[in-house]
Amino acid sequence: MAIGQNARMDAAVTVDSRWRLSVAPMLDWTDRHCRAFHRLLTVRTRLYTEMVTTGALLHGDVARHLALDSVEHPVALQLGGSEAADLAACTGLARQWGYDEVNLNCGCPSERVQRGAFGACLMAEPMLVADCVKAMNDSAGGLPVTVKHRIGIDTQENYEFVRDFVGAVAEAGCSAFIVHARNAWLKGLSPKENRDVPPLRYEFAYCLKRDFPALTIVLNGGIAGDAAIADHLLQVDGVMLGRHAYHEPWSMARWDSAFFDAPGMAASREQVEARWVAYLEALHARGTPWPHAMRHALGLWNGTPGARRWRQVWSDHRMRSEPPEQVARRATAARLSAAGIAGRG
Ligand SMILES: Cc1cc2nc3c(=O)[nH]c(=O)nc-3n(C[C@H](O)[C@H](O)[C@H](O)COP(=O)(O)O)c2cc1C
Repeated sequence: MAIGQNARMDAAVTVDSRWRLSVAPMLDWTDRHCRAFHRLLTVRTRLYTEMVTTGALLHGDVARHLALDSVEHPVALQLGGSEAADLAACTGLARQWGYDEVNLNCGCPSERVQRGAFGACLMAEPMLVADCVKAMNDSAGGLPVTVKHRIGIDTQENYEFVRDFVGAVAEAGCSAFIVHARNAWLKGLSPKENRDVPPLRYEFAYCLKRDFPALTIVLNGGIAGDAAIADHLLQVDGVMLGRHAYHEPWSMARWDSAFFDAPGMAASREQVEARWVAYLEALHARGTPWPHAMRHALGLWNGTPGARRWRQVWSDHRMRSEPPEQVARRATAARLSAAGIAGRG
């Protein structure tokens, strides 16, 4: 019997809507400012932090990595590491700091991460991941411990590899898996190429859901647009979007009503911008440079006339020390004038 067959259950499919839609963990992108911005667009979508290594948490500035704003919920902390005791200690920290989930990264292919023996190379060691998940669960105090992984590493192309990985880790107590549906090629591709070059195989994630109906299976990789999300949701429990959500943030404004049957958060781009500028003003008042936060919102007007001019004003380095409200007025004026709407803004 293949590893993990015991974890297969033929019981009725359980659907946990907590993972229905999420924004992917993205290093250097999904920091707390980015998550605060995304919350202006969708209330129900689950948000993930950037990957934080156990080393950074156990030997670094915990508050800098873990401080949360209450608006961010539901929010998951993604951990990178492979020492069960360290991961357990960091899971305890996640609980103390109020996170809603702890996710273990088994998908990152970067060389730095490989040197640390975690990320995607952990897929070759399902029993080690199982031990880590057990230890994390022991200190999670009921917080869900989940795993984000690929469907294979290098030239490993058969479905049984990912099936047995999921089976082994599920037996250790993980019940939600986020499947980035392409292999990680550990040699010869940069992390960026590793997000585009290895082919997507959504059917592997669909098969996982069929083989493990009691598990929550979330599909990730190359998904863009509500129609694609809806199609995948017929096959799996959840969909995670990364780059599309980040670059086209307004697309998230429809998600609460379209996928959660809940009232939408954002009435208009103008309303989101006004709230976001208030957030930037608060940073500015505390002496925190706002451009670092603003970079996450530069796609807000994408697809509308004048969006490019709006972005240019906000990105102009001469504006960096100006109060955000002033920059916002200029950016709006530039946008409307480029769009040919005179006399407003
Ligand atoms: C800039 C960037 C940083 C990323 N950092 C992480 C990370 O810290 N942890 C992780 O599991 N995946 C990371 N990823 C991968 C994404 O979570 C996601 O799996 C991948 O982008 C595929 O989804 P997408 O096609 O919807 O973007 C990153 C992706 C990008 C673009």
